[in-house]
Amino acid sequence: MVSYKELGFVNTKNMFKVALERKFAVPGYNINNLEQLQAIILGCGESNSPVIIQISKGAREYANQTMLKYLGHGGVEMAKEMGFSIPIALHLDHGDSFDLCKSCIDFGFSSVMFDGSHLEYEENINVTKRVVEYAHQRDVSVEAELGVLAGIEEHVIAEEHQYTDPEQVEDFVNRTNCDSLAIAIGTSHGAYKFKVEKEEDIPEIRFDILIDVKKRLKNYPIVLHGSSSVLKTYVDIINQYGGTLDKAFGIPEVQLRKATQFGVSKINIDTDGRLVFTAMVRKHLSEHPEIFDPRKYLGLARKELIDMIKRKNKEVLNSAEQAEFIK
Ligand code: G3H
Ligand code: 13P
Ligand code: ZN
Repeated sequence: MVSYKELGFVNTKNMFKVALERKFAVPGYNINNLEQLQAIILGCGESNSPVIIQISKGAREYANQTMLKYLGHGGVEMAKEMGFSIPIALHLDHGDSFDLCKSCIDFGFSSVMFDGSHLEYEENINVTKRVVEYAHQRDVSVEAELGVLAGIEEHVIAEEHQYTDPEQVEDFVNRTNCDSLAIAIGTSHGAYKFKVEKEEDIPEIRFDILIDVKKRLKNYPIVLHGSSSVLKTYVDIINQYGGTLDKAFGIPEVQLRKATQFGVSKINIDTDGRLVFTAMVRKHLSEHPEIFDPRKYLGLARKELIDMIKRKNKEVLNSAEQAEFIK
Protein backbone atom coordinates (compact mmCIF):
# COMPACT_ATOMS: atom_id res chain seq x y z
CA MET A 1 0.00 0.00 0.00
CA VAL A 2 1.37 3.40 -0.97
CA SER A 3 0.01 6.92 -0.66
CA TYR A 4 -0.22 8.93 -3.84
CA LYS A 5 1.55 11.73 -2.01
CA GLU A 6 4.76 9.68 -1.95
CA LEU A 7 4.47 9.36 -5.73
CA GLY A 8 4.13 13.11 -6.21
CA PHE A 9 0.48 13.23 -7.27
CA VAL A 10 -2.16 15.56 -5.87
CA ASN A 11 -5.89 15.04 -5.41
CA THR A 12 -8.35 17.15 -7.39
CA LYS A 13 -9.59 19.38 -4.55
CA ASN A 14 -7.52 22.50 -5.19
CA MET A 15 -7.58 22.06 -8.95
CA PHE A 16 -11.38 22.22 -8.94
CA LYS A 17 -11.54 25.04 -6.41
CA VAL A 18 -9.39 27.23 -8.66
CA ALA A 19 -11.10 25.96 -11.84
CA LEU A 20 -14.42 27.17 -10.44
CA GLU A 21 -13.00 30.53 -9.40
CA ARG A 22 -11.20 31.15 -12.70
CA LYS A 23 -13.66 29.45 -15.07
CA PHE A 24 -11.58 26.79 -16.73
CA ALA A 25 -11.84 23.03 -17.06
CA VAL A 26 -9.07 20.72 -15.91
CA PRO A 27 -8.24 18.26 -18.72
CA GLY A 28 -8.74 14.57 -18.06
CA TYR A 29 -6.51 12.90 -20.65
CA ASN A 30 -6.40 9.09 -20.88
CA ILE A 31 -3.23 7.07 -21.22
CA ASN A 32 -2.36 3.52 -22.19
CA ASN A 33 1.32 3.83 -23.05
CA LEU A 34 4.56 5.74 -22.59
CA GLU A 35 4.25 8.11 -25.53
CA GLN A 36 0.75 9.25 -24.54
CA LEU A 37 1.98 9.99 -21.04
CA GLN A 38 5.03 11.88 -22.30
CA ALA A 39 2.79 13.93 -24.59
CA ILE A 40 0.46 14.80 -21.69
CA ILE A 41 3.31 15.85 -19.41
CA LEU A 42 5.00 17.90 -22.12
CA GLY A 43 1.78 19.35 -23.51
CA CYS A 44 0.46 20.34 -20.08
CA GLY A 45 3.90 21.34 -18.79
CA GLU A 46 4.58 23.62 -21.75
CA SER A 47 1.13 25.18 -21.48
CA ASN A 48 1.36 25.40 -17.68
CA SER A 49 -1.91 23.52 -17.18
CA PRO A 50 -2.98 21.26 -14.31
CA VAL A 51 -3.80 17.77 -15.50
CA ILE A 52 -5.66 14.64 -14.51
CA ILE A 53 -4.04 11.54 -15.98
CA GLN A 54 -6.78 8.99 -16.48
CA ILE A 55 -6.44 5.24 -16.41
CA SER A 56 -9.42 3.13 -17.42
CA LYS A 57 -10.00 -0.43 -16.34
CA GLY A 58 -9.04 -1.45 -19.89
CA ALA A 59 -5.80 0.57 -19.72
CA ARG A 60 -4.97 -1.11 -16.44
CA GLU A 61 -5.42 -4.50 -18.03
CA TYR A 62 -3.51 -3.52 -21.17
CA ALA A 63 -0.47 -1.91 -19.61
CA ASN A 64 -0.33 -3.55 -16.15
CA GLN A 65 -1.25 -1.50 -13.11
CA THR A 66 2.23 -1.54 -11.56
CA MET A 67 3.73 -0.34 -14.80
CA LEU A 68 1.15 2.45 -15.04
CA LYS A 69 1.69 3.58 -11.46
CA TYR A 70 5.44 3.97 -11.94
CA LEU A 71 4.96 5.40 -15.41
CA GLY A 72 2.76 8.05 -13.79
CA HIS A 73 5.36 8.63 -11.08
CA GLY A 74 8.00 8.88 -13.81
CA GLY A 75 5.83 11.52 -15.45
CA VAL A 76 5.80 13.57 -12.25
CA GLU A 77 9.59 13.30 -11.94
CA MET A 78 10.09 14.16 -15.59
CA ALA A 79 7.89 17.25 -15.18
CA LYS A 80 10.03 18.37 -12.21
CA GLU A 81 13.24 17.71 -14.07
CA MET A 82 12.04 19.82 -16.97
CA GLY A 83 11.20 22.69 -14.64
CA PHE A 84 7.41 22.38 -14.95
CA SER A 85 5.44 23.17 -11.86
CA ILE A 86 2.04 21.70 -12.62
CA PRO A 87 -0.30 19.72 -10.36
CA ILE A 88 -0.79 16.17 -11.62
CA ALA A 89 -3.53 13.81 -10.43
CA LEU A 90 -3.62 10.09 -11.16
CA HIS A 91 -7.24 9.08 -11.67
CA LEU A 92 -9.17 5.85 -12.19
CA ASP A 93 -11.59 6.44 -15.07
CA HIS A 94 -14.96 4.62 -14.93
CA GLY A 95 -14.31 2.40 -11.92
CA ASP A 96 -17.14 -0.11 -11.93
CA SER A 97 -16.95 -1.51 -8.40
CA PHE A 98 -15.99 -0.63 -4.85
CA ASP A 99 -13.20 -3.21 -5.00
CA LEU A 100 -11.62 -1.71 -8.11
CA CYS A 101 -11.74 1.80 -6.60
CA LYS A 102 -10.27 0.53 -3.33
CA SER A 103 -7.51 -1.31 -5.14
CA CYS A 104 -6.54 1.84 -7.07
CA ILE A 105 -6.60 3.96 -3.91
CA ASP A 106 -4.39 1.43 -2.10
CA PHE A 107 -2.17 1.41 -5.15
CA GLY A 108 -1.37 5.12 -5.24
CA PHE A 109 -4.15 6.82 -7.23
CA SER A 110 -5.06 10.31 -5.99
CA SER A 111 -8.55 10.29 -7.45
CA VAL A 112 -11.08 7.65 -8.49
CA MET A 113 -14.30 7.65 -10.41
CA PHE A 114 -17.02 5.31 -9.30
CA ASP A 115 -19.36 5.06 -12.27
CA GLY A 116 -22.65 3.80 -10.92
CA SER A 117 -24.65 5.45 -13.67
CA HIS A 118 -26.08 2.14 -14.83
CA LEU A 119 -27.24 1.19 -11.37
CA GLU A 120 -30.59 1.96 -9.91
CA TYR A 121 -30.48 5.37 -8.14
CA GLU A 122 -30.35 4.13 -4.52
CA GLU A 123 -27.74 1.51 -5.39
CA ASN A 124 -25.60 4.16 -7.13
CA ILE A 125 -25.82 6.23 -3.95
CA ASN A 126 -24.92 3.29 -1.70
CA VAL A 127 -21.80 2.23 -3.58
CA THR A 128 -20.64 5.80 -4.29
CA LYS A 129 -20.99 6.58 -0.59
CA ARG A 130 -18.90 3.55 0.35
CA VAL A 131 -16.18 4.56 -2.11
CA VAL A 132 -16.23 8.15 -0.80
CA GLU A 133 -15.88 7.01 2.83
CA TYR A 134 -12.90 4.85 2.00
CA ALA A 135 -11.30 7.46 -0.26
CA HIS A 136 -11.76 10.45 2.04
CA GLN A 137 -10.03 8.67 4.92
CA ARG A 138 -7.00 8.67 2.60
CA ASP A 139 -7.49 12.18 1.18
CA VAL A 140 -8.37 10.77 -2.24
CA SER A 141 -11.00 12.51 -4.42
CA VAL A 142 -14.07 10.78 -5.82
CA GLU A 143 -15.94 11.52 -9.05
CA ALA A 144 -19.42 10.04 -9.41
CA GLU A 145 -21.90 9.92 -12.29
CA LEU A 146 -25.62 10.51 -12.67
CA GLY A 147 -27.36 9.92 -15.99
CA VAL A 148 -26.19 7.61 -18.78
CA LEU A 149 -24.18 8.64 -21.83
CA ALA A 150 -25.29 7.02 -25.08
CA GLY A 151 -22.73 4.75 -26.69
CA ILE A 152 -20.39 2.35 -25.00
CA GLU A 153 -19.65 2.93 -21.35
CA GLU A 154 -17.42 0.25 -19.90
CA HIS A 155 -18.93 -2.68 -21.77
CA VAL A 156 -22.48 -1.37 -21.43
CA ILE A 157 -24.04 -0.20 -24.66
CA ALA A 158 -26.77 2.37 -24.22
CA GLU A 159 -28.84 3.17 -27.29
CA GLU A 160 -30.21 6.39 -25.92
CA HIS A 161 -28.97 9.08 -23.60
CA GLN A 162 -30.56 9.17 -20.21
CA TYR A 163 -29.95 12.79 -19.47
CA THR A 164 -29.14 13.69 -15.89
CA ASP A 165 -32.24 14.71 -13.99
CA PRO A 166 -31.37 18.05 -12.34
CA GLU A 167 -33.89 17.31 -9.61
CA GLN A 168 -31.71 14.46 -8.35
CA VAL A 169 -28.33 16.16 -8.18
CA GLU A 170 -28.53 17.89 -4.79
CA ASP A 171 -29.85 14.79 -3.08
CA PHE A 172 -27.16 12.66 -4.74
CA VAL A 173 -24.26 14.94 -3.86
CA ASN A 174 -25.47 15.57 -0.30
CA ARG A 175 -25.98 11.91 0.43
CA THR A 176 -22.79 10.60 -1.18
CA ASN A 177 -20.46 13.52 -0.42
CA CYS A 178 -18.69 12.92 -3.75
CA ASP A 179 -16.18 15.59 -4.81
CA SER A 180 -17.31 16.03 -8.42
CA LEU A 181 -20.20 14.87 -10.54
CA ALA A 182 -20.22 13.67 -14.16
CA ILE A 183 -23.49 14.50 -15.88
CA ALA A 184 -25.12 13.31 -19.11
CA ILE A 185 -26.09 16.25 -21.34
CA GLY A 186 -25.64 14.77 -24.81
CA THR A 187 -21.95 13.91 -24.99
CA SER A 188 -20.95 10.27 -25.52
CA HIS A 189 -17.83 8.14 -25.75
CA GLY A 190 -15.94 7.26 -28.90
CA ALA A 191 -15.71 8.57 -32.47
CA TYR A 192 -19.37 8.28 -33.47
CA LYS A 193 -21.25 10.62 -31.22
CA PHE A 194 -24.08 11.61 -33.55
CA LYS A 195 -26.12 9.91 -36.21
CA VAL A 196 -25.80 12.79 -38.67
CA GLU A 197 -24.59 13.05 -42.24
CA LYS A 198 -22.60 16.26 -41.94
CA GLU A 199 -20.93 18.44 -39.36
CA GLU A 200 -23.50 21.24 -39.68
CA ASP A 201 -26.22 18.88 -38.42
CA ILE A 202 -24.54 18.20 -35.07
CA PRO A 203 -26.99 19.27 -32.36
CA GLU A 204 -26.10 21.38 -29.33
CA ILE A 205 -25.45 19.59 -26.10
CA ARG A 206 -28.11 20.23 -23.44
CA PHE A 207 -26.86 23.48 -21.96
CA ASP A 208 -30.26 23.92 -20.35
CA ILE A 209 -29.59 20.88 -18.14
CA LEU A 210 -26.08 22.09 -17.34
CA ILE A 211 -27.40 25.49 -16.32
CA ASP A 212 -30.11 23.94 -14.16
CA VAL A 213 -27.59 21.62 -12.47
CA LYS A 214 -25.21 24.54 -11.83
CA LYS A 215 -28.06 26.54 -10.31
CA ARG A 216 -28.76 23.77 -7.84
CA LEU A 217 -25.14 22.78 -7.12
CA LYS A 218 -23.59 26.17 -6.72
CA ASN A 219 -19.83 26.29 -6.97
CA TYR A 220 -19.57 22.53 -7.34
CA PRO A 221 -17.31 20.73 -9.89
CA ILE A 222 -19.19 19.28 -12.85
CA VAL A 223 -17.50 16.82 -15.21
CA LEU A 224 -18.14 16.15 -18.89
CA HIS A 225 -17.20 12.75 -20.27
CA GLY A 226 -17.20 11.90 -23.95
CA SER A 227 -15.84 15.31 -24.89
CA SER A 228 -13.62 14.58 -27.85
CA SER A 229 -14.31 16.69 -30.90
CA VAL A 230 -13.30 13.94 -33.36
CA LEU A 231 -11.13 16.41 -35.23
CA LYS A 232 -11.75 16.29 -38.96
CA THR A 233 -8.08 16.85 -39.83
CA TYR A 234 -7.12 13.52 -38.26
CA VAL A 235 -10.18 11.59 -39.42
CA ASP A 236 -9.32 12.70 -42.97
CA ILE A 237 -5.67 11.63 -42.64
CA ILE A 238 -6.72 8.23 -41.28
CA ASN A 239 -9.10 7.75 -44.21
CA GLN A 240 -6.55 9.01 -46.73
CA TYR A 241 -4.08 6.40 -45.56
CA GLY A 242 -6.29 3.34 -45.57
CA GLY A 243 -8.58 3.85 -42.57
CA THR A 244 -12.34 3.56 -42.71
CA LEU A 245 -13.90 6.04 -40.34
CA ASP A 246 -17.28 6.89 -41.76
CA LYS A 247 -19.45 9.72 -40.42
CA ALA A 248 -17.32 10.16 -37.34
CA PHE A 249 -18.38 13.32 -35.50
CA GLY A 250 -17.66 14.71 -32.05
CA ILE A 251 -18.58 17.63 -29.81
CA PRO A 252 -17.60 20.87 -31.56
CA GLU A 253 -14.90 22.70 -29.63
CA VAL A 254 -16.95 25.86 -29.53
CA GLN A 255 -19.57 24.00 -27.46
CA LEU A 256 -16.94 22.71 -25.05
CA ARG A 257 -15.56 26.19 -24.63
CA LYS A 258 -19.08 27.39 -23.83
CA ALA A 259 -19.43 24.56 -21.29
CA THR A 260 -16.30 25.75 -19.44
CA GLN A 261 -17.78 29.24 -19.33
CA PHE A 262 -20.94 27.78 -17.76
CA GLY A 263 -18.77 26.24 -15.05
CA VAL A 264 -17.78 22.73 -16.15
CA SER A 265 -14.61 21.96 -14.19
CA LYS A 266 -13.27 18.82 -15.89
CA ILE A 267 -13.41 17.68 -19.50
CA ASN A 268 -12.47 14.12 -20.52
CA ILE A 269 -10.65 13.55 -23.78
CA ASP A 270 -9.45 10.17 -24.99
CA THR A 271 -10.68 9.59 -28.55
CA ASP A 272 -9.06 12.75 -29.97
CA GLY A 273 -5.67 11.56 -28.74
CA ARG A 274 -6.25 8.12 -30.26
CA LEU A 275 -7.14 9.69 -33.61
CA VAL A 276 -4.04 11.89 -33.63
CA PHE A 277 -1.86 8.92 -32.88
CA THR A 278 -3.42 6.64 -35.47
CA ALA A 279 -3.38 9.33 -38.15
CA MET A 280 0.33 10.05 -37.67
CA VAL A 281 1.35 6.40 -37.56
CA ARG A 282 -0.70 5.52 -40.65
CA LYS A 283 0.64 8.50 -42.61
CA HIS A 284 4.26 7.98 -41.68
CA LEU A 285 4.34 4.25 -42.32
CA SER A 286 2.56 4.69 -45.60
CA GLU A 287 4.91 7.46 -46.79
CA HIS A 288 8.03 5.68 -45.52
CA PRO A 289 7.50 1.96 -46.08
CA GLU A 290 11.20 1.34 -45.45
CA ILE A 291 10.92 2.38 -41.80
CA PHE A 292 10.86 -0.17 -38.99
CA ASP A 293 12.11 1.81 -36.01
CA PRO A 294 9.08 2.48 -33.76
CA ARG A 295 10.72 5.66 -32.43
CA LYS A 296 10.29 7.24 -35.84
CA TYR A 297 6.52 6.91 -36.10
CA LEU A 298 5.72 6.94 -32.38
CA GLY A 299 7.90 10.01 -31.92
CA LEU A 300 6.00 11.78 -34.67
CA ALA A 301 2.65 10.79 -33.15
CA ARG A 302 3.84 12.02 -29.75
CA LYS A 303 4.87 15.37 -31.19
CA GLU A 304 1.46 15.86 -32.83
CA LEU A 305 -0.29 14.88 -29.59
CA ILE A 306 1.74 17.45 -27.64
CA ASP A 307 0.57 20.13 -30.06
CA MET A 308 -3.03 19.01 -29.82
CA ILE A 309 -2.94 19.07 -26.02
CA LYS A 310 -1.36 22.53 -25.91
CA ARG A 311 -3.95 23.89 -28.31
CA LYS A 312 -6.89 22.31 -26.47
CA ASN A 313 -5.65 23.60 -23.12
CA LYS A 314 -5.34 27.09 -24.52
CA GLU A 315 -8.28 27.38 -26.88
CA VAL A 316 -10.90 24.99 -25.54
CA LEU A 317 -10.46 24.28 -21.83
CA ASN A 318 -8.83 27.56 -20.87
CA SER A 319 -6.58 25.57 -18.51
CA ALA A 320 -3.34 26.93 -20.02
CA GLU A 321 -1.37 29.22 -17.69
CA GLN A 322 -3.62 28.30 -14.75
CA ALA A 323 -1.29 25.93 -12.88
CA GLU A 324 0.42 28.69 -10.90
CA PHE A 325 -2.89 29.64 -9.25
CA ILE A 326 -3.27 26.19 -7.73
CA LYS A 327 -1.57 25.78 -4.37
O1 G3H B 1 -14.38 6.50 -21.23
C1 G3H B 1 -13.69 5.61 -21.68
C2 G3H B 1 -12.30 5.91 -22.08
O2 G3H B 1 -12.25 6.45 -23.37
C3 G3H B 1 -11.45 4.69 -21.93
O3 G3H B 1 -11.70 3.76 -22.90
O4 G3H B 1 -12.12 1.58 -21.76
O5 G3H B 1 -11.28 1.69 -24.13
O6 G3H B 1 -9.78 2.30 -22.23
P1 G3H B 1 -11.19 2.23 -22.73
P1 13P C 1 -14.07 10.53 -25.62
O1 13P C 1 -14.32 9.15 -26.13
O2 13P C 1 -15.03 11.50 -26.19
O3 13P C 1 -12.67 10.96 -25.77
O4 13P C 1 -14.37 10.49 -24.04
C1 13P C 1 -13.39 10.08 -23.13
C2 13P C 1 -13.91 9.87 -21.76
O5 13P C 1 -15.00 10.26 -21.40
C3 13P C 1 -13.03 9.18 -20.82
O6 13P C 1 -13.66 8.93 -19.61
ZN1 ZN D 1 -15.77 8.64 -19.82
